Amino acid sequence: MPTVKCPECKEEVDAGVVATVCPNCKADLRPAIEEEARIRKDEDVSRKAEEDGLVAEFIVRTKDLVKEFVLGGTVLRALKGVKLDIRRGEYISIMGPSGSGKTTLFNMVGGLDKPTSGTVYIDEVDMAQLDAYELAWLRCRKIGYIFQTFNLIPVMTALENVTLPMIFAGATQDEMMERAIHLLETVGLGDRLHHKPNELSGGQQQRVAVARSLANAPAIVLADEPTGNLDLRTGKEIIDLLRQLNAEEGVTIISATHDLKMIDVSDRIVHIRDGAIERIEDRSEIDLEIGRLEGAED
Ligand SMILES: Nc1ncnc2c1ncn2[C@@H]1O[C@H](COP(=O)(O)OP(=O)(O)OP(=O)(O)O)[C@@H](O)[C@H]1O
Ligand SMILES: [Mg+2]
Repeated sequence: MPTVKCPECKEEVDAGVVATVCPNCKADLRPAIEEEARIRKDEDVSRKAEEDGLVAEFIVRTKDLVKEFVLGGTVLRALKGVKLDIRRGEYISIMGPSGSGKTTLFNMVGGLDKPTSGTVYIDEVDMAQLDAYELAWLRCRKIGYIFQTFNLIPVMTALENVTLPMIFAGATQDEMMERAIHLLETVGLGDRLHHKPNELSGGQQQRVAVARSLANAPAIVLADEPTGNLDLRTGKEIIDLLRQLNAEEGVTIISATHDLKMIDVSDRIVHIRDGAIERIEDRSEIDLEIGRLEGAED
C-alpha cells in the first residue's frame, strides 16, 4: 500500500485510506498525493520504456530554437535557430565567445526560461507541453544545475545546501543526511560539512555546488562555466570530478565553457557563435586538436 508523507507533521500516512487531509494534523495532503502518483507514473513509464527497449537515444534535443529579447524597443536575437541532439551519457562542452548565447541556450534546455519559438525535448518530451507542476518536477528531479558563481545559500552550511533540493523532492531526514554526506565525501569535502560558503574557498564552494547538483540523482547536469571563477588547478579538479560522474554514473554533462581544459574530457564540442551553432567537433577531431596543442607546447 503506498504511503505519503504529511508536509506538516511529517507522519507517513497510508494513501489507501486517507481522504485529502492528514489524520494527525489535518494538513492538506493533496499535493503530496499528487506528487506520489506522479512519481509512480513516471517510474512505470520509464520501466515500461526500458522493457520495450525504448529508452530514447537522445536525452536532449532542440529544434529550431530561437530566443529573442526585447529591450528598449529593439529586438535582440540571442539564439537564431539552434538544432542540437545530445545522446544519453554524453559529455558535451559548449564553447563560444562572451555573448554568443551559451547561457541563453542553457536556460532553455534547463527549463529556466522559455524559447520565443522552437522546441526543447527532454527524453523526447516537449517541454512546452508540461504544466507548471510537471516542469518543476523535471527541474527538481531530472536536471542538476551548476553556475559560474556557485549560487549557494550563504546562511546554510555545505550539508544544508546539499540537502535543500532533497527537501523539495520529499526525501526523509535520514535519506537526506546519508546521501548529502556521501555526496560531499565524493567531492572531497567530508571534513567541511558544517562550513558555510564564506568559510570555504572558491573551489570548495563549487564542489558543494557539484554535490548539490547531484542531490536528486539527475540524469542531466547543466554546468554553466563551472570553472569560470576558479584558478587553473582547482578548475581542473572540478572538470575531473564532472568527468568521473559522467563515466561512473552515466550522467549526461552539458557544460558551457571558455576553458580549453574542457576539451580533453569532452565527447563532443559544440562551437556556438552569435546565437548559432558554427560547428560540432567529435572525439576524433578533438584528439587531433589536443595533439596539435601538445605539439605546440613542445
Ligand atoms: N535577459 C536578457 N535581456 C536582454 N538581452 C539578453 C538577456 N540575456 C542575454 N541577453 C543577450 O543575449 C546575448 C547572449 O547572452 P548569453 O548570456 O547567452 O551569452 P553567453 O554566451 O552566455 O556569454 P558569457 O560567455 O559572457 O556568459 C547577449 O548579447 C546578451 O546581451
Ligand atoms: Mg554565460
